[in-house]
Amino acid sequence: MKFFELEIDFLKVTQAAAIASYSWVGKNDRHAADDAATKAMREKFNQIDFAGKVVIGEGERDEAPMLYIGELLGTGKGEKVDIAVDPLEGTNLAAENKPGAICVLAAAPSGALFHAPDTYMEKIAVGPKIGNVVSLSKSVEENLEMISKKTGKPMGQITVIVLERPRNQDIITRIKAKGANIRLISDGDVFGAVMTAFDHANVDMLLGIGAAPEGVLAATALKCAGGYFEGRLKFRNEDEKQRALKMGIAQKDFDKIYTMDELVKGKDAIFVATGVTDGDLLKGVNLDQKFTESMVFNTKSKIPKIVRG
Ligand code: FBP
Repeated sequence: MKFFELEIDFLKVTQAAAIASYSWVGKNDRHAADDAATKAMREKFNQIDFAGKVVIGEGERDEAPMLYIGELLGTGKGEKVDIAVDPLEGTNLAAENKPGAICVLAAAPSGALFHAPDTYMEKIAVGPKIGNVVSLSKSVEENLEMISKKTGKPMGQITVIVLERPRNQDIITRIKAKGANIRLISDGDVFGAVMTAFDHANVDMLLGIGAAPEGVLAATALKCAGGYFEGRLKFRNEDEKQRALKMGIAQKDFDKIYTMDELVKGKDAIFVATGVTDGDLLKGVNLDQKFTESMVFNTKSKIPKIVRG
């Protein structure tokens, strides 16, 4: 099977994960919801004729029994593919029955996806109408000015989505001081970034520090959408730095700004997500009507398909 033909099988993976985790929605058990999604994802992956390898998953082999980093997936016949997964992105959202929980994966030919350590990442994301005029090397204010110039929107019509955390407070204060609008999210910065690619979501940019593995998923989606993404690792402690070194990240790159094409190398990539709870971009699972809604994106067509089924 050729790389892009795998898309339809990958869709079944996130659909199965969403249905499995849905039975835990609103039950206040984020671990059970995540475990259900992980198990279903792994089961579906292993039915696919491909030679997959988890590069971003549930954790290191000694701490995650399933979808751990380095785990081989599929029947082993066919394309060699890097897989990044977040079986349930927004575990708290699902546990508390709040909007925006999704099951998500990214795929690219072997060697293409950045092996992000389990630390934080400073992120900037914009859609195709803005592109690479923004950068983490610019200040918050400069990036807002670039967006205003590129889109022709006055500052008061620009909206920035930010993960609501104390560590992002400085960014929030500066966006407000500049006169732009803020949309705060409690969780789920993968779709926070993806929303910048959809006009109807009314979000111009994502800024702020979230988890690094989620950064690679967001970068894949924006590469498929023709948008732009940059990430810079943010370590919480010495232990995380040691783990990054072990994963092959050189010390000189600890402060490096990774561009979208460094996080997702080459020209081929696929991004798939299925809604678990209703959100801005996707409806959640509806078991009564046997309904799921998914987003399927690839670098070849660059046009997102919304798949209901
Ligand atoms: P989980 O689904 O793993 O709980 O992640 C949700 C999330 O909000 C991500 O979208 C985000 O990148 C990360 O958590 C932020 O981490 P933290 O909650 O530690 O600030």
